[in-house]
Amino acid sequence: MQNFTFFLPTKIIFGPGEIQKIGLEAKVLGEKALIVTGKRSAAAYGIVNRVEDLLEKEGIGAVIFDKIEPNPRASTIDDAAALAEQNGCDFIIGLGGGSAMDAAKGIAAAASGAKPIWDYIYHGQPLVKHIARALPIMEIPTLAATGSEANSGAVISNWETNEKAVLGSPLLFPRVSIIDPELTITVPKDYTIDGGIDIICHVIEGFFTGADNTPIQDRFSLSVTRTVMDYLPEAVEDPADIEARSQLSWSSAVALSGMVGSGRGGPFPLHAMEHALSAHYDVSHGRGLALLLPRLMEYTYPARPHKYAIMARELFGIDPEGKSELEVAKLAVDWMIDFLQSVGRYIRLSDLGINDDSKFEVMADDTLRIYSRNREFLDNPKPLYKRDIVEIFRMAL
Ligand code: NZQ
Ligand code: ZN
Repeated sequence: MQNFTFFLPTKIIFGPGEIQKIGLEAKVLGEKALIVTGKRSAAAYGIVNRVEDLLEKEGIGAVIFDKIEPNPRASTIDDAAALAEQNGCDFIIGLGGGSAMDAAKGIAAAASGAKPIWDYIYHGQPLVKHIARALPIMEIPTLAATGSEANSGAVISNWETNEKAVLGSPLLFPRVSIIDPELTITVPKDYTIDGGIDIICHVIEGFFTGADNTPIQDRFSLSVTRTVMDYLPEAVEDPADIEARSQLSWSSAVALSGMVGSGRGGPFPLHAMEHALSAHYDVSHGRGLALLLPRLMEYTYPARPHKYAIMARELFGIDPEGKSELEVAKLAVDWMIDFLQSVGRYIRLSDLGINDDSKFEVMADDTLRIYSRNREFLDNPKPLYKRDIVEIFRMAL
């Protein structure tokens, strides 16, 4: 195991109905909130009104910013930060999926002077500006997916340059996250599935790429994956199944909280490639991951068969008797494809409306520039040079 620091200063309040506690929790953070949300769902399902009422009962004012797009943009974040400043908001509430929650983090920094927010994001240039201050943040996920409710990162897009990159600072940990699975029952089937796949990718990327001799971390990864594989079909079948929604919501928070990966580390090459894909084509993050995951597994398994073989045995229950390690490893890839097929996510680029390879080279360049730490390849059991990244995109055509 590697040495590590685990730091998660976020107070997490979990459970159906717990949104009721927002007023008392907010009182500790400030007097006037900027509620940051997406363009439709939180208002359409009455969540914005409910949150406003609960805040008002405790004498807390609120200003609404409801223009966050999926794959939130730096320019939108700057606009929202200006609104927070004009209105004297002293804390930020992110209410929505990962996009609204990530935007809330960016706004908390930008409203404290870090403007334009894009200057504070590493996207391949030497980073000279660091976040010095941020308003307190409360996150309220309405979609189980990214884990933004339990970490200090945010993924921001720049639509002028077609770049998507990570904003990070310990100052961006939410002070409080209220994870109320009831808020997720209106998530449509497609985004429920995309979210589940995102959660799985958050725990298995490090499983494939991280250190050896990390049984706690690896079993943690496989446990979260198993949980999502068990409950995702139930949530799709019955969107109001609160037990299934609860399992997914907790899986989301645990997956990227640092708890699973600490001591194992491991880069996230799949996420790096997906960010380039959604930066150019604005696709749903989880859907982009679903597209690339089986191709990356297929490409990589011969380079580290024992990890894939562990997955085959312990996650998919495959009997290794009479098979070579490489054969067992290949079965992990096949079973993952079966799972993706079962939830309608063994997809090709054409399913995302992408029918040619015209951007593969530039997406590979972007991936490497932003995520390779100034090297010519992405870390992966089989290192991914530009030609490998292009090839993986090509496998999905
Ligand atoms: O836009 P609205 O109207 O809010 O609707 C959203 C959106 O259309 C809808 N939705 C959310 N909650 C709902 C709901 N619809 C009905 N009922 C509800 N309760 O779902 C759609 C997708 O929402 P979005 O927030 O975009 O999805 P997701 O949670 O997957 O977030 C994706 C963003 O997070 C980043 C991604 O790159 C992407 O930009 N990530 C953030 C991470 C982090 N901070 O740790 C890590 C991840 O790996 C990821 O990169
Ligand atoms: Zn993700």
